Amino acid sequence: MPRPAPSSPVTRIPRSGIRTLMDLALRDPEAIHLEIGEPDLRPAAHVIDAVAAGAAAGLTGYTSSVGLTSLREVAAERVTSRQGRAVTPDRVVVTHGAMHGLAMALATLLGPGDEVLVPDPVFPNWEMAAVAASARPRRYPTRAAGGFVPRPADVEVRITPRTRALLLCSPNNPTGAVYPPDVLAALVDVARRHDLWVLSDECYEAITYDAPHVSPAVFDTDGRVLVFHSLSKTYALTGWRTGYVVVPDLAVVEAMGHLAEATVACPSTTGQLAATAAMTGPQEGVAAAVASYRERRDAAVALLRRRGVRHVVPDGAFYLMVDVGRPDTDAFALDLLARRHVAVAPGSTFGDGAAGMVRVSLAAPRGDLLEGVARLADHVASGAGGAAAPGRVAAAR
Ligand SMILES: Cc1ncc(COP(=O)(O)O)c(C=O)c1O
Repeated sequence: MPRPAPSSPVTRIPRSGIRTLMDLALRDPEAIHLEIGEPDLRPAAHVIDAVAAGAAAGLTGYTSSVGLTSLREVAAERVTSRQGRAVTPDRVVVTHGAMHGLAMALATLLGPGDEVLVPDPVFPNWEMAAVAASARPRRYPTRAAGGFVPRPADVEVRITPRTRALLLCSPNNPTGAVYPPDVLAALVDVARRHDLWVLSDECYEAITYDAPHVSPAVFDTDGRVLVFHSLSKTYALTGWRTGYVVVPDLAVVEAMGHLAEATVACPSTTGQLAATAAMTGPQEGVAAAVASYRERRDAAVALLRRRGVRHVVPDGAFYLMVDVGRPDTDAFALDLLARRHVAVAPGSTFGDGAAGMVRVSLAAPRGDLLEGVARLADHVASGAGGAAAPGRVAAAR
């Protein structure tokens, strides 16, 4: 029987520990799911109605491989008004979500063996996409003690002759860090001095609590920052797979269009109908969702404080990093699931920067979240799930 070519980069894609835990937890009907970043909210009624009406009117076919012109116009207008920089519709590539946009950009901009700098703690899917594109992810550290905000010098020192791109993510998954404007400006400056692309994953742009979201694109003076937007988290549209990329260079837009044509033909028409309705319709639902995540964050943080469990308070996105004080977070997460029916993402899957920690999703229903966090605190206190790591604890805020 033929086998996949061992030299195929696809055979080297690392598996994400988030999915491993989720697959195990799905076998446990009692499990509380705090491992996956999926809003518990439903899409707004006007979005569902618009998709149904569009389908009934026959909008069920292929579109251009870079998306509907009308949606590209909506996206360009939105970025122009929100980020205060002029973006034209021909710079917008509609995608099957931010991750598809990132995978296409990595495959377009990097050659075999080229390096992309990614933050540690890392969202594992970036590394998976880089490996699939025959590129090499290289991690730069961010530290709990510094609120997981990167230091430009830590990035710069990791640049090699093979480095082609710097990936930034603010608000960040898994850490919840929101990078201050001066840090973003300095990071874009590093990229400019070393002639790197900047890939800015802004899929949590709408979800901030204490500090406003600023895009590194506002500091781009010479067309090197690509911004990846998603409808998944802001509008609870994860399964309709829709997002868009703002690309400074028309040649890159064209190349990404070719890649889309060769792989997915075009972005999902259903997703595009949903995206158009979501971005042009009432926005009160977004503010209500953010307020709800904030309230859940505050309640979960208060519970952990009462129980004396160390953690890092997130400024954005909907994740909470909890220090469980165990070196083997895989063992801890598996034990927590087996004994207390709570699924969390083990720090091991996010890299050295998340050592001794697990990630809890605040997007779970409130009751599940607080019950799950209480059981997590019990498990930490019990000493179960691996030997405690003396001294190996992240700074807590
Ligand atoms: C940082 C980050 N980027 C991208 C994605 C994927 O977004 P999308 O559903 O738009 O592909 C996620 C989803 O969890 C994420 O956390």
